[in-house]
Amino acid sequence: MNSLPVLHLLLLLLGLQAPQAQGRSLLTYPPQQNFKMISEITDILNSSPSPAEETLDPNETNTLLNTTLLRPNLDAFLNATKNFYSNESLIWKNLKEFLPLLPTPTPRGEPISIENNWSDFQKKLKKYLEALDNFLNFRNNH
Ligand SMILES: *[C@@H]1O[C@H](CO)[C@@H](O)[C@H](O)[C@H]1NC(C)=O
Ligand SMILES: *[C@@H]1O[C@H](CO)[C@@H](O)[C@H](O)[C@H]1NC(C)=O
Ligand SMILES: *[C@@H]1O[C@H](CO)[C@@H](O)[C@H](O)[C@H]1NC(C)=O
Ligand SMILES: *[C@@H]1O[C@H](CO)[C@@H](O)[C@H](O)[C@H]1NC(C)=O
Ligand SMILES: *[C@@H]1O[C@H](CO)[C@@H](O)[C@H](O)[C@H]1NC(C)=O
Repeated sequence: MNSLPVLHLLLLLLGLQAPQAQGRSLLTYPPQQNFKMISEITDILNSSPSPAEETLDPNETNTLLNTTLLRPNLDAFLNATKNFYSNESLIWKNLKEFLPLLPTPTPRGEPISIENNWSDFQKKLKKYLEALDNFLNFRNNH
């Protein structure tokens, strides 16, 4: 179940061989920093039992994993976070840190829709963090 220790090891390895920035147009953080922010959010999400991943609609899973929609989805999650937390909360602040790291697509496409329901928010954000983590690690390693 818990893949975080493995991920951490992987990130350490990636960090060791990560070449220095080569003309990146977007701001980046070191992978360790991204990993820390993502795992802080995961810890908060895991502080209560979450619904089974299978309860996600396949279309919603596609939307959450779609790289083109990373930025529109992040906007949607930032907005939805306000239903549960203040803008001073760690979860909101960490999510906001990722905004400048994500390209803004044109056209933006239809982002994920999130109900004002903690379970819905929790399971969708967990899936989204997988996509975000993949994207940021890929970027950092290329
Ligand atoms: C998933 O998307 C397809 C194509 O847009 C649509 O026909 C279908 O009704 C959607 N399924 C659900 C459960 O929303
Ligand atoms: C932000 O969230 C509020 C309340 O959940 C909703 O009414 C509004 O449409 C959302 N705005 C955007 C841009 O998603
Ligand atoms: C949080 O919201 C308050 C009230 O809406 C606002 O004054 C403050 O600047 C916001 N803080 C951040 C970090 O956006
Ligand atoms: C991702 O979303 C964009 C914008 O909605 C869409 O054009 C594209 O087909 C989607 N890609 C996948 C793999 O679903
Ligand atoms: C919240 O979402 C979960 C999972 O999607 C669902 O099972 C539950 O019935 C919803 N609760 C409310 C109050 O809408």
